[in-house]
Amino acid sequence: MKAVVLVGGEGTRLRPLTYSTPKPLLPIGNQPFLERQLEWLAGYGVDEVVLAIGYLPDAFDQHFPEHEYAGVKLRYRVESEPLGTAGAIRFAAEGIDERIVVCNGDVLTTLDLGELVAFHEKTGADASIALTHVDEPSAFGVVPTFPDGEVRGFVEKPPRGKAPTKWINAGTYVLEPSVLAAVPPRLQVSIERTTFPRMLDRRGRMYAVQSDAYWIDIGTPGKYLEAHTDLLAGKIGAPPAPGAVETGPGVWVQGDVDVHADAQLFAPLLLGAGCVIEAGAVVRGSSIGAGAHVEAGAEVVRSVVLDGATVGPDVRLLDSVLGADARIGVGGSATNETVIGADSVIAAGSLLSNARVPAEG
Ligand code: GTP
Repeated sequence: MKAVVLVGGEGTRLRPLTYSTPKPLLPIGNQPFLERQLEWLAGYGVDEVVLAIGYLPDAFDQHFPEHEYAGVKLRYRVESEPLGTAGAIRFAAEGIDERIVVCNGDVLTTLDLGELVAFHEKTGADASIALTHVDEPSAFGVVPTFPDGEVRGFVEKPPRGKAPTKWINAGTYVLEPSVLAAVPPRLQVSIERTTFPRMLDRRGRMYAVQSDAYWIDIGTPGKYLEAHTDLLAGKIGAPPAPGAVETGPGVWVQGDVDVHADAQLFAPLLLGAGCVIEAGAVVRGSSIGAGAHVEAGAEVVRSVVLDGATVGPDVRLLDSVLGADARIGVGGSATNETVIGADSVIAAGSLLSNARVPAEG
């Protein structure tokens, strides 16, 4: 089976992390998100994936120089300008004249893709879509269905309290070639707003499967942190990261790490290979990247420290993300969903709350 993964967005809400790394290649639990997604697809028999690329195209080539991962052959289609979701899928799937799976490159899920494909075959639909349940659907595309699963409609971002259902588009589809044949080539078209709603003009073309599997869109700092919390809590399965070994309840370690006897570790947490946790440091509910340093007396709580980053002496990092090879100087703090981009240096004593460094513009 072939799949198209949409990885062309700029990931503006995750800036500054996405200035240098496209969102699908940002690590989740010390593994680039896209690797996790390719493993998930491979688990359902997908053997070829076309990456629908737009933003930072070279990053994908550099990351997968063999054009293969987890037994999945990778092909790249780079848009010269954003084509929207339907336009991008159509462009990426040119030359493929068979059923395809499509997924957004920013959804971490344990969805049963096999069940979606089996339901698609059973109903004979042209398109099948996975739905996930959320408590507050106002920021999503809501999809009411008939009792047999046929899609009734698409309601984009309904006002609070006005959604007809809490089942939302989970960003995973099975499509027959007829769906893409109806998309005008090389034009900006949204599958959620245009292509799918138009298919409802005729009954029997679109069905949906409601799934209660784990599902999260990693696209904001809050959701990126939440995905890590859930990963460490075991909601996506164990181990939470490749090769991680549980050295104590909820303490996962990848390779050799250097933890001082006077450091305090509180589960759940993940320590990447070669990381150093110095005397008096406290690490709790966090993911620490490979080769990262948490220096003496620093405190890292519910946070993500990416590869090679340094949390300086007596620094507090709470509910925040420290980008790869970035550094916070002695005595500083970053709290309340602060996001610090790769290679940034934060001066000693700086107190950051809900900040973006470097700032936009
Ligand atoms: P924000 O800028 O923060 O909204 O993030 P985003 O650019 O990723 O947009 P969004 O989260 O709405 O996109 C959902 C998925 O579709 C992501 O996997 C994007 O990479 C992808 N995507 C969005 N627009 C395009 C596009 O024009 N072309 C391609 N190839 N992918 C797209």
